[in-house]
Amino acid sequence: MDTAEQSWAAEVEAAAARERGEVVPPAAGDAKPEHPVRLSVQNLDLFYGDFHALKNVSIDIRDREVTSFIGPSGCGKSTLLRTLNRMNDLVKGCRIEGTIELDGEDIYQDYNVTRLRQRVGMVFQRPNPFPMSIFDNVAYGPRGMGIKSKSELEGIVEESLRRAALWDEVKDKLKSSGMGLSGGQQQRLCIARAIAVHPEVLLMDEPTSALDPISTQMVEQLALELKEHYTLVVVTHNMQQASRISDSVAFFLLGELVEHAPTEQLFATPQDQRTADYLTGRFG
Ligand SMILES: Nc1ncnc2c1ncn2[C@@H]1O[C@H](COP(=O)(O)OP(=O)(O)OP(=O)(O)O)[C@@H](O)[C@H]1O
Ligand SMILES: [Mg+2]
Repeated sequence: MDTAEQSWAAEVEAAAARERGEVVPPAAGDAKPEHPVRLSVQNLDLFYGDFHALKNVSIDIRDREVTSFIGPSGCGKSTLLRTLNRMNDLVKGCRIEGTIELDGEDIYQDYNVTRLRQRVGMVFQRPNPFPMSIFDNVAYGPRGMGIKSKSELEGIVEESLRRAALWDEVKDKLKSSGMGLSGGQQQRLCIARAIAVHPEVLLMDEPTSALDPISTQMVEQLALELKEHYTLVVVTHNMQQASRISDSVAFFLLGELVEHAPTEQLFATPQDQRTADYLTGRFG
């Protein structure tokens, strides 16, 4: 094994140990702070053709924290979120300048995109279960990674559904179609599907905007539990939600990152007048 493979193997082992609830000590000589920077965006400009959608954005996303993106419609929240696992690669005419690093590695240089998408998962605004059974939805990613053993898949499916707080509701109908679930259940199914491949970062674009208050509360609770293991980035228009679930909040306006601060600080004492105006409803 080369060094990269070794550190990858060690990372996979550490992630698996975290899954088992074990405390993983940092590697020897590795004096990392409790929440080291996981994703680092530096001087990012993004263009859709001639349109300059993100302007010189720099932001650090920390390990095992929830970072929320807020701001008016069209300010670039989803665009930035999608750059974090290269979902914009598929958009014709989209190009970026600047760098995005995951654990210090530039994800736009020589990076295996399949591995990136396994490490950085995504949950969308509208629940989008695949037209297949609940079991197959969750087993889809692990199968794609080459896991064939029935018992191993069963274990992963159960664990993922439990972690997504859906197991009790579906354990007796795993063979039924995922499309037959309620919207809130479908969104939790999509979360289970996303975490089944053991990602390290989970991106969520307005994950509760199509859900009723009870399902919303479940997904928020889930986000708080997931951050014990994962790094979460959540786009939301709901300020109460941002204040309930996030460790830090980033406010965007017209493609610019105006301010990124610990949640309480951003809401109580915003440093930029534009943030204050947005929070008090003066625009947006
Ligand atoms: N595929 C695309 N091609 C061209 N322009 C795009 C594309 N996707 C987004 N845009 C433009 O980029 C800007 C940012 O869009 P984005 O979807 O990131 O905003 P947002 O902050 O997520 O908005 P919302 O809160 O409404 O979801 C908008 O002006 C939008 O029209
Ligand atoms: Mg959006």
